[in-house]
Amino acid sequence: MLKLENLHYNTTENGKIKEIIKGIDLTFDNGKTYVITGPNGSGKSTLVKLIIGILNLSQGQIYLNDLNLSPLSIDKRAKEGITFAFQKPVTFKGIKVKELLDIASGKKNNVGESCEYLASVGLCAKDYLDRNFDDKLSGGEQKRIELAMALAKGGKINIFDEPEAGIDLWSFENLTKLFSSMKTSINIIVSHQQKILELADEVIMLKDGKVERKGNYQDIKPFLSENKCRMLN
Ligand SMILES: Nc1ncnc2c1ncn2[C@@H]1O[C@H](COP(=O)(O)OP(=O)(O)OP(=O)(O)O)[C@@H](O)[C@H]1O
Ligand SMILES: [Mg+2]
Repeated sequence: MLKLENLHYNTTENGKIKEIIKGIDLTFDNGKTYVITGPNGSGKSTLVKLIIGILNLSQGQIYLNDLNLSPLSIDKRAKEGITFAFQKPVTFKGIKVKELLDIASGKKNNVGESCEYLASVGLCAKDYLDRNFDDKLSGGEQKRIELAMALAKGGKINIFDEPEAGIDLWSFENLTKLFSSMKTSINIIVSHQQKILELADEVIMLKDGKVERKGNYQDIKPFLSENKCRMLN
């Protein structure tokens, strides 16, 4: 179980304190899929960056079962099983896709295993294993390779920030299948996509740095257009 207690995140802009996350309490249960949605700028990416430790909390605590993650570095949180796929993947010069998959899974994968990870994100493995993970890959290819890394890592908690961004429709179908099959861990997906919202055991709607509403997709649906969320069918 992952528990967020009274999370706050402030930054400074033009010498003034700017509150971005304003007191968020949430509990994520094992084996469930959660989708965080809400208008642009509502704090979704900031919230997930606080969970993985890219940003430091201004106030509050994060617990993974009985372990307080709040003082732990990104690396230590990753070792505890937190896996993250960025809204905009970070590419590395001079690292091949197969090497990244090895790093993610913490062992040397044979070709068959590496291929399986790539195939499950809709990529034809032999075309990609020896390619560098750099800007020559298209945005959608980078995104899918990042998802394959998350699969290879097999974390206790998988966090995906807008995994659908830049992914074509054919792959999108596979993406939803992929998320429905990842039921052993806690999945936290930031998304505006109706098909992904429908997968959620719980939809969490943020607005202006706070939890505006929680519930299953049918409960939340009427409020999505009210808040002018960017809904894509
Ligand atoms: N370092 C910063 N300095 C100033 N403002 C920031 C900083 N980081 C984030 N913000 C602001 O905090 C708010 C939340 O940003 P965040 O990226 O979390 O939004 P989001 O919900 O992920 O939006 P989107 O749907 O566009 O991805 C935005 O208004 C953003 O401009
Ligand atoms: Mg975002």
